[in-house]
Amino acid sequence: MSKKINKISLDDNLILLTSDVKNIDLKYLSKEEIAYASQVLSEHKKETVVFDRLGKWVLVQLIKEEKEGYKRLENCRKAGDSLAARLNELKAKSVVVVDVDGKGPETLALVEGIALGSYQFLKYKSDKKEKENSLSSVGILSKLIKDAEIDRMNILTDSVIRCRTLVNEPVSHLSAQVLAKEFQKMGEEAGIKVEVLNKNKIEALKMGGLLAVNKGSTDPPTFTIMEWNPPKPVNKKPIILVGKGVVFDSGGLNLKTANFMDNMKDDMAGAATMATVIYAIARLNLPLHVIGLMPATDNRMDANSIAPGDVIKMYDGTTVEVLNTDAEGRLILGDALSYAKKFKPELVIDAATLTGAASRAIGRYGIVAMENRAEKEMELLIECGKMVYERIAVFPFWEEYGELIKSDVADIKNIGGTDAGMITAGKFLAHFTDYPFIHLDIAGPAFIEKKDSYRTAGGTGFGVRLLVEFLKQRANR
Ligand code: BES
Ligand code: ZN
Ligand code: ZN
Repeated sequence: MSKKINKISLDDNLILLTSDVKNIDLKYLSKEEIAYASQVLSEHKKETVVFDRLGKWVLVQLIKEEKEGYKRLENCRKAGDSLAARLNELKAKSVVVVDVDGKGPETLALVEGIALGSYQFLKYKSDKKEKENSLSSVGILSKLIKDAEIDRMNILTDSVIRCRTLVNEPVSHLSAQVLAKEFQKMGEEAGIKVEVLNKNKIEALKMGGLLAVNKGSTDPPTFTIMEWNPPKPVNKKPIILVGKGVVFDSGGLNLKTANFMDNMKDDMAGAATMATVIYAIARLNLPLHVIGLMPATDNRMDANSIAPGDVIKMYDGTTVEVLNTDAEGRLILGDALSYAKKFKPELVIDAATLTGAASRAIGRYGIVAMENRAEKEMELLIECGKMVYERIAVFPFWEEYGELIKSDVADIKNIGGTDAGMITAGKFLAHFTDYPFIHLDIAGPAFIEKKDSYRTAGGTGFGVRLLVEFLKQRANR
């Protein structure tokens, strides 16, 4: 969406981004206009002033000072979103963002906010032409920002948008098989090796968790393996990303009630996130060996569905007493996490819309995370979370919580008690790991019903920018 501009024409719509209006060049605004802008901004505590130039627009955007730099960047993303909304109201087709006083990161953040905030999911609207945003091109005029940085920003925002669209697709158009095909297409586009295990192969491998959840479905399950292995990776052992791919979660025989089922097409957001992250790092050409594992199925009610009390045998041989068929994510992820062992990974991270408990604990504002043997990696992830404003709340992972999933009839059961549901779910996953492990429960932020600035309504792609930033930092170590 963005491109570097060398010269602006008098015809362009402009956003002048500045921390001090007095720094604005007189070729953009007259002295009187600068005086007016500075008065409006200071007296009315506003951050934006709009000038009408006979149908062309000049928007002055003030950067608010913040003690912590990362908050300033987030303010710039949000400003980008509201400026985009303004320009769409004004039916503007293009705009050039002028970095008035050499603030590269802030300017990029503003453009990021414009790109992400402009996302629309109109596929199923008959009048999509009328509904489409007018703004379709953004230029950048900055001494500091290099072309390569703009290319990287385009890859990043494009990736987030892909993730959102996957999450927004309803199950009628996105079965496990269609999801796997989408992953294959992304692989072809970005040069990633993709293998999709079909139901026969999944049966031959005895992935009992994935097969159990799939029992109530008329559609077969899939297990997608994506591998980005560049010529000279900085890591000897791969980093593995595991994503929950429940394309629709009805709850199964423990059927979800009332409106708890409404948004359950989003239950594959973890898989979409991890696939998109690998897509992004491949297009960014990061020198890092990364493997993605995406088990996928829907969770339905049928005569043949798994029933509460059933005992199943997982891929690694663990027996599980299924006491609630709605706790299905951990069953398909358990298989993927034990499958990950064969790669002898240096780190495994999973992302999953795993528990309502995580969402209730911190809402849509962040990710609930837990860690085993990966304290340092978690520290880096927390830092990255601030930078991209996809923040992380670390929850305890004490061994006592593990006691809560012991079963009387099998090795473990798939639910704990009423307390700490996000942690007992994490403990269930950790049972299948013997490597440094980070669990990300994205149930809160993955899908929102109302637009929240540049996080548009529906799938948000929350976690994509976080993990791309994390992997960038690992690649640069
Ligand atoms: N997919 C849900 C979790 C979820 C809830 C995601 C709300 C997004 C928003 C998951 O499979 C589930 O149903 N979890 C149960 C677990 C319980 C039965 C132990 C839950 O959280 O209620
Ligand atoms: Zn469920
Ligand atoms: Zn689920």
